[in-house]
Amino acid sequence: MDQNDFISSSPNKEIESGKVTWQAPSNIALVKYWGKKEEQIPANPSISFTLNTSKTTTTLEFEKRESSAEGFRFELYFEGKKKEDFKPKIKTFLERIEKYVPFLKDYSLIIRTENSFPHSSGIASSASGMSALALCIMSLEKELNPEMTEEYFNRKASFLARLGSGSACRSIEGGLVVWGNHKKTESSSDLYGVQYKKPVHEVFYNFQDTILLVDKGSKQVSSSVGHNLMHGHPFADERFAQAHNNLNALQEIFEQGDLNGFIEVVEREALTLHAMMMSSKPYFILMKPNTLEIINKIWKFRENTGLPVCFTLDAGANVHVLYPKESKEKILEFIKNELVAYCENEQYLCDHVGKGAVKLN
Ligand code: PMV
Repeated sequence: MDQNDFISSSPNKEIESGKVTWQAPSNIALVKYWGKKEEQIPANPSISFTLNTSKTTTTLEFEKRESSAEGFRFELYFEGKKKEDFKPKIKTFLERIEKYVPFLKDYSLIIRTENSFPHSSGIASSASGMSALALCIMSLEKELNPEMTEEYFNRKASFLARLGSGSACRSIEGGLVVWGNHKKTESSSDLYGVQYKKPVHEVFYNFQDTILLVDKGSKQVSSSVGHNLMHGHPFADERFAQAHNNLNALQEIFEQGDLNGFIEVVEREALTLHAMMMSSKPYFILMKPNTLEIINKIWKFRENTGLPVCFTLDAGANVHVLYPKESKEKILEFIKNELVAYCENEQYLCDHVGKGAVKLN
């Protein structure tokens, strides 16, 4: 499929008004996307676990307008209150996707959105937020063109979400999702995320992700600035090749249920992501002292107990602690006793692998 396959055909039906609600989860990358080309095309493939509990619920109300001449017309409510400062980001998103969903301008829109996690918890809401909105827009397109297949619906939702925030394209479907062309992953694409369909050992079905909120402040360097610093980065080519290799390695690891192999790939990915930041021009550091304290505690606990717990990081100071459900009791006890003290206000979130976005009405 190429981009042109996502330009909607003219509506088959007349829809005057309506309302749709989607709930979309966040995701946590195991192989990281860091570096992009024009139009949010990733420089390397990535794979993530779709989460369950950290999610955004978005309702889109639409009503036919007299004329679509003066651009998009929309109102935005966040947690029940009008949010003018979020509007520019949404406006940019709508303008970016306009070519693919030209029908959208024929409607006045009201977008109501809320997150399951506390605002300014340091958890990025862009993945769940952009995917929830993209899904609402796709539901309207499906009302106008009801013959659309489920596969096309999901792919286009992911395609649109990607144009809002790259990693958002991995928040449509559940389990493991791959985004970016990868030789050994059938139907993988730079344009949208696809569910990972190769054999996966059951130990990975119910993986847990406890998110330790180390620093809830806003980041000094946004991820879009960070992605751009991979242009001309001295280690870029090596890094992009490494991501392909790590995805290859994970395929065998998933099939075998090789937890040691998993830990090695996932932690190396997290540290490489931050190593890229620390060696870009200009360089920067997003980890905090407590991020390192937690990593060292995890390593020590793993060495002492042999339990399969590891960490990963996003573009921030928070730590995602990953482990299989079988070891939940002991690892959660360790987290509460030894790691929570390093979190801001002792805040953390318990999440696990989920089934993907759901439509609520
Ligand atoms: O989707 P963005 O542009 O916010 O980038 C996210 C990048 C990482 O979270 C660091 C890695 C990833 O693959 O999710």
